[in-house]
Amino acid sequence: MSKPLTIADLKNLARRRVPKMFFDYADSGAWTEGTYRANEDDFSKIKLRQRVLVDMTDRSLATTMVGERAAMPVALAPTGMTGMQHADGEMLAAKAAEEFGVPFTLSTMSICSIEDVASVTTRPFWFQLYVLRDRGFVERLIGRAKAANCSALVVTADLQILGQRHKDIRNGLSAPPKWTLNSALQLATRPQWCLDMLRTQRRSFGNIVGHASNVSDLSSLGAWTAEQFDPRLSWDDIRWIKDLWGGKLIIKGILDEEDARAAADTGADAIIVSNHGGRQLDGAPSSISMLPKIVDAVGDRIEVHFDGGIRSGQDVLKAVALGARGTYIGRPFLYGLGAMGKQGVTTALEIIRKEMDITMALCGKRDIQHIDRSVLANTPF
Ligand SMILES: Cc1cc2nc3c(=O)[nH]c(=O)nc-3n(C[C@H](O)[C@H](O)[C@H](O)COP(=O)(O)O)c2cc1C
Repeated sequence: MSKPLTIADLKNLARRRVPKMFFDYADSGAWTEGTYRANEDDFSKIKLRQRVLVDMTDRSLATTMVGERAAMPVALAPTGMTGMQHADGEMLAAKAAEEFGVPFTLSTMSICSIEDVASVTTRPFWFQLYVLRDRGFVERLIGRAKAANCSALVVTADLQILGQRHKDIRNGLSAPPKWTLNSALQLATRPQWCLDMLRTQRRSFGNIVGHASNVSDLSSLGAWTAEQFDPRLSWDDIRWIKDLWGGKLIIKGILDEEDARAAADTGADAIIVSNHGGRQLDGAPSSISMLPKIVDAVGDRIEVHFDGGIRSGQDVLKAVALGARGTYIGRPFLYGLGAMGKQGVTTALEIIRKEMDITMALCGKRDIQHIDRSVLANTPF
């Protein structure tokens, strides 16, 4: 294929490079995948105002998210098992984000550990926390994130129990993996991926194996994770985490105005309007359709961030116009990583930057700081 020009090009390339079970793990949503699709589709309902004969020189996309400088209002979202899209995936993605000047968020369920990522970066990255039942393990994780100089903690609130993705079950994707003839064939047809994987030691959950009590290998890991997500999680736990962490706190997975108000009451620094990329409550509204309502409810009290369905720089601009201070991309960077490793993550960021810059200019604006609802021709939500 010639040089990828769109996120869709990167997705097509990734489909050819990554074993099906891991490609599907990224490209899937819960149950009917209706919310997953709506996240992408609803962006196209928003139209932009074309403006002409205004000065379009000297444009700037630079901004801040929770007080940290970002080359554009885009961060890399926390995604589990990123090191299965490409060997050492989290380390490569973190380096690409650092060079580009945007925040990188490491998932609790990453393959490379907090310490691995810290060893290849010089700028502080962000750490995403799942508040698991083993609170002692949670305390140790927070301690490790502090020791690695992480500059913000992203607490995920929308995964107290696991949504179901049919593709993962059909592909036998679990910890430990269910090895079948089909999965062996999937690996055999992706030799470069296999070679890269053989060259690294990082093939398990780096933050967990060897750190959680009784988790020393893949099979004990499976039993441990199955019982660790906590259905009793409450706002009190968020306050406990906030005190324990003591630094910048971002609450991820808010899709409702009432929850947004409760999040603002905790004194957190930001919320992320998110439905986990359509991977949890199938049937929930798209993220972008909820963004303006949540901004109206709490935008004057707390920084509002956004994720879900961004596939272009135009989508980022629309989210910023609807009040997002910053956005996160999940699948776009995973597709880039699967397609071309670190260079693919950089390419995904470059594609988004270029699209955002040109769109901003054609809307008659020169500075991302001046983007508001006035650049929209309609507001369908
Ligand atoms: C493969 C994959 C794994 C994910 N793992 C996590 C995770 O470990 N923690 C988390 O908070 N969110 C996780 N998410 C959700 C993302 O952080 C983000 O909310 C979502 O990907 C945004 O939607 P987008 O992929 O359309 O950009 C995951 C998403 C994907 C696609």
